[in-house]
Amino acid sequence: MPDADAIGPGDGGPEGQDKARLVGRIFDRVADRYDLMNDLMSGGIHRLWKESFVDQLVPRLGERYLDVAGGTGDIAFRVLERVKKSGRKQNVSHTQVIVCDINPSMLSVGRDRAIDRGLLTDLSWVTGDAQQLPLPDKCVDAYSIAFGIRNVSHLERALEEAYRVLTPGGVFLCLEFSKVGDRFLKRLYRLYADNVIPMIGEWVTGSRPSYEYLVDSIRRFPDQDTLAGMITEAGFGRVAYRNLSGGVVAIHSGRRL
Ligand SMILES: C[S@@+](CC[C@H](N)C(=O)[O-])C[C@H]1O[C@@H](n2cnc3c(N)ncnc32)[C@H](O)[C@@H]1O
Repeated sequence: MPDADAIGPGDGGPEGQDKARLVGRIFDRVADRYDLMNDLMSGGIHRLWKESFVDQLVPRLGERYLDVAGGTGDIAFRVLERVKKSGRKQNVSHTQVIVCDINPSMLSVGRDRAIDRGLLTDLSWVTGDAQQLPLPDKCVDAYSIAFGIRNVSHLERALEEAYRVLTPGGVFLCLEFSKVGDRFLKRLYRLYADNVIPMIGEWVTGSRPSYEYLVDSIRRFPDQDTLAGMITEAGFGRVAYRNLSGGVVAIHSGRRL
């Protein structure tokens, strides 16, 4: 089994169980610095990407949301805050947001953040694998996954599970690193990713390999059209995507028919 410290860009990359263990150890190591790292690595831009993502989700009072690979709760908090704003005097607790993540350390940081924000009653935190969700069929109106699907060992299984838990007509939304089209931007981005991200990672979390894994996993991840094809293959209709920041990330969407 490859050790996290032994994984770097250029090797074959872990698969299956090895990848799952590696990803588990990485997020254990970085959990308490994860949010700070996101701000430093992206210069805060991840916040704009996430805002855009939640804009597209259009959170509504009374709906049931599932945020898979939800980590420290960033998307879930935004969903609830939007609903609060739109609902004003109405009761937000009619809206239910489930955060599901395979890593208890990430969820634990998320719970602490929720306590700090006074967001407790409308949220539930579930430890579970995106490839085998511990939830019944057709139980949520929207499924979101942000910067998570790249980390699962078998992407197709995660998509099948997303389809299974959504109600008919339910929305699927995925925010993920993707492929930059413009050649100049691509070169610049590559220089930044290869040199700056692992350096910041080492400095902040003490774990350079974790952030080398991040860069490598972005490189290996399917491009926009390939991912859209896989979402269609999983049974979703009205599949579309839009690029943000020239394709550094993309939002893919679909609906359970
Ligand atoms: C980069 S973080 C994203 C967290 C959050 N969605 C955000 O945007 O800040 C990736 C998350 O995916 C989780 N993860 C990795 N593999 C998973 C799996 N198979 N099932 C569920 N969660 C998984 C990790 O534990 C981690 O919390």
